[in-house]
Amino acid sequence: MSGPEVILRVENVTKRFGGVVALNDVTLSVGRGEIVGLIGPNGSGKTTLFNCITGVYKPDRGRVFFMGRDITGLQPHEVAKLGIARTWQKVRPFRNLTVLEAVTTGALLRTDSVEEARKTAVEVLELIGLPREEWGRLGSEITLMEHKLVDLARALATGPQLLLLDEIAAGLRPHEQERLAEVIKKVWSDRGLTIVVVEHVMRFVMSLSKRVVVLHEGRVIAEGPPEEVASNPRVIEAYLGIKPV
Ligand SMILES: Nc1ncnc2c1ncn2[C@@H]1O[C@H](COP(=O)(O)OP(=O)(O)OP(=O)(O)O)[C@@H](O)[C@H]1O
Ligand SMILES: [Mg+2]
Repeated sequence: MSGPEVILRVENVTKRFGGVVALNDVTLSVGRGEIVGLIGPNGSGKTTLFNCITGVYKPDRGRVFFMGRDITGLQPHEVAKLGIARTWQKVRPFRNLTVLEAVTTGALLRTDSVEEARKTAVEVLELIGLPREEWGRLGSEITLMEHKLVDLARALATGPQLLLLDEIAAGLRPHEQERLAEVIKKVWSDRGLTIVVVEHVMRFVMSLSKRVVVLHEGRVIAEGPPEEVASNPRVIEAYLGIKPV
């Protein structure tokens, strides 16, 4: 890939679960400062790819490079410390913590000082525009949209250079998805981040990404500008049966 510096490089990654080949020789690059969309039907390997990048799983074959460094097989906390943060497809409720406390736990990755971590959390919560009156609420008291914003804030509080978002817009209403896309664009430009967005909602992906990578049955089957990819016959075939936008 020419152009910007490659911040993430996945090379020939294969991951099996018993007889299931979740990722089959996947190679892709992400340039610094890009927002790349990662799409594909259910079970195509998107979350597994995030798990292989963040150290949740070790690939059976292939390597993962972050800023030129081989990070294959590192533990999740080591990967986080190097500057990769993620949100989880399944919302992880934090019932007994407040919003501010939950975001503060993210910031504790970089400091032992709770006071300093809280300061970082406040900055991030201000950046994403979550109203101050929500900060004292418990996880059990907030809406799904607020949970998504807190997940995003918690990831940002770890001080990443690369952010992996796994279906962060899922379950939200269209106007909430639009608001979330605006927040993501804001943090992207404010923090100079690189972002990979996994999402089924094509409108959401298209509003954020200039380049989309398509996975199908663990393989990369297409890559390019969203409009081009959306009209690619292989992609259309892979998507038959997936709900249209
Ligand atoms: N921990 C696991 N154990 C066994 N099989 C797994 C595991 N994780 C993923 N798989 C399988 O690997 C394949 C890819 O799953 P993955 O969750 O990565 O897909 P996905 O593209 O994220 O799908 P979705 O859009 O539904 O989230 C699927 O067949 C899935 O059942
Ligand atoms: Mg998934």
